[in-house]
Amino acid sequence: MRIDILTLFPEILESPFNQSMLKRAVNKGYVEINLHNIRDYSTDKHKSVDDYCFGGGAGMVMMIQPIEDLILKLKSERDYDEIIYMTPDTKVFTQKEANRLSMSTNIIILCGHYKGIDQRIRDHYITKEISIGDYVLTGGELAAAVVVDAVVRLIPGVLTDETSALSDSLQDGLLSPPIYTRPADHNGWKVPEILLSGNEKLVNEWRENKAFELTERVRPDLLED
Ligand code: 6GU
Repeated sequence: MRIDILTLFPEILESPFNQSMLKRAVNKGYVEINLHNIRDYSTDKHKSVDDYCFGGGAGMVMMIQPIEDLILKLKSERDYDEIIYMTPDTKVFTQKEANRLSMSTNIIILCGHYKGIDQRIRDHYITKEISIGDYVLTGGELAAAVVVDAVVRLIPGVLTDETSALSDSLQDGLLSPPIYTRPADHNGWKVPEILLSGNEKLVNEWRENKAFELTERVRPDLLED
């Protein structure tokens, strides 16, 4: 998979992509992540990337020109499965969407800043919009890092058996059941007896029940459909 990230602040994304699982995925060749600074594509003498909002109101709007030139350059080099815009004013990202995106070959992720981007970029180039939750961040970069992390770990081969995505919370639409390790008794706090029984069938039943109970109690919305 190739991921091109368009941003005014590439430095924000350098660290998350150079650590741990993402670094390993990059080094092993499962994913190539390219950061592009939108400002490098501005053609005016001040390297402008934003301007005042038509109709008035506080805050600047990211202008069409540098973003369009960058998108057109990338599109002339290869086909993209999705051109994604990170924005709080759209539907919230889910594990289902992460699964879908993990099957892509090439994607572009555009990070907004200030008040956002000119609507015409959204209307004419963006194929998918993603929010990571109902709160506002200063820009789309941290949200893009979240999406890339969630997607890349699902690429076959990235996770080992030990970190397998199959038992993830939400992968089956439920929250994960409680987990324990040694000691079986910590100052009287005991691990549930069934987990020590060695009876795989009973253990699996217990886990399913706990997952269901927990989901019903804290995230009943997940059980709705
Ligand atoms: Cl994708 N961007 C920004 N700026 N804020 C957010 C978000 C994205 N998702 C939730 N809040």
